[in-house]
Amino acid sequence: MRLPKAGTVEIVPSVLAADFGRLAAEVAEVEAAGVKMIQFDIMDGHFVPNISFGPPIVAALRRHSPLAFDVQLMISDPRRYAEAFIRAGADHITFHIETVDRPLDLVDELHKAGVTAGVALNPETDVLRIIDVAPYCELVLVMTVHPGFGGQEFIPETAQKVRQVRDLVGPATRVQVDGGISVETVPIVVGAGADTLVVGTAIFGKKDRRAAIEDLRRAVASTPAPFASVP
Ligand code: DX5
Repeated sequence: MRLPKAGTVEIVPSVLAADFGRLAAEVAEVEAAGVKMIQFDIMDGHFVPNISFGPPIVAALRRHSPLAFDVQLMISDPRRYAEAFIRAGADHITFHIETVDRPLDLVDELHKAGVTAGVALNPETDVLRIIDVAPYCELVLVMTVHPGFGGQEFIPETAQKVRQVRDLVGPATRVQVDGGISVETVPIVVGAGADTLVVGTAIFGKKDRRAAIEDLRRAVASTPAPFASVP
């Protein structure tokens, strides 16, 4: 399965918040609740102050799940490692603009390798940094927390950046948000133009994951989304 085409609001569970001891079962649970895509937070302990996991975890889950795999590279050298994640089964790769000198070359390499490409920017990074590369990406990720850990508070000032990015890329590109997304913050980000909502704690931190996803969907459905419909 590939990155869902723009036009719907998608809820994307982040496996960073899942129980790593039973990861395949955790992913099967959210698949049963109807999500189309899951996100993998790849952290190198250098670009961000945390270390998560690598290609072997993605490859292990690939053998058990038909979902679209969205791999976010929070690493200092995404160009060196992207290929390994694509071989492991990634359908989509997002790199951080703060880590790449020639982003258009990397986007071209990702497309030639058969995956969709995304560019991410941290809360303190100006949208001007992605003006040249965003038109060539299928997705732009606006971090709504400082990357590195799940369970952080949503940064309200990032909503303005979501609006700026949506204005920049128009309706055909996915605008993703990540960090502190919950039933309370969904109206803020969807109202600003986001259509791809990465959620960790507000899904895997709950006992009933299906109910948690239904609650998020209801929050989406009750928010007028500038560019997207609710599946
Ligand atoms: C943080 C990660 C997020 C995080 C989201 O750096 O990129 O994906 O796991 O978790 P919550 O939803 O708990 O903020």
